Amino acid sequence: MSVPQSARAIRAIATAVAAHADDPAALTRALQVPFGELLALPDLRAKGVPRAGNHVANSFYLYYDGDLSILLFELPKGKRIPAHDHGNWETMGIYSGAVKHTVYERTDDGDVDGKATLRVVDDRTLMPGDTALVAPPADIHSFMATVDGTWGITVAAGTYHAQRSYYDPENGTVVKKKPR
Ligand SMILES: [Fe+2]
Repeated sequence: MSVPQSARAIRAIATAVAAHADDPAALTRALQVPFGELLALPDLRAKGVPRAGNHVANSFYLYYDGDLSILLFELPKGKRIPAHDHGNWETMGIYSGAVKHTVYERTDDGDVDGKATLRVVDDRTLMPGDTALVAPPADIHSFMATVDGTWGITVAAGTYHAQRSYYDPENGTVVKKKPR
């Protein structure tokens, strides 16, 4: 029996994550080929298991083992996902469409309740096949699809904060809340 290309790519991603879990830069390099292969495969929607998304309605598991998750999700055009933190490591890739995506690092020490200052570390329009790293200390991002038919895939390892911080970078404020 031949192994589907999607399964091969997902196994290679899992192997890379296991080998480089403590080194985000090495992990990003090791993921380039298998994540690129996954992002290039057609018909991934048919292989996903529906899930309840945190910020999106149409979301599927491609893989989940309690630590590593690979999720496929639709991003409605024009719906801006506000800047939020994760607490873990994630790489977001574009499957179809286009996404304006900004990654931030928090620069204050959190001493003043409700206040936060952010520094932009990555600000791009991501196109199909492009990826962006969201990992501590820069584990804050905001994004918005700019065209219809935009789908993304995230590869994430570790545990997300149960309570996320949601930031307003323009006004320098932050609130903590559950993501849904
Ligand atoms: Fe996120």
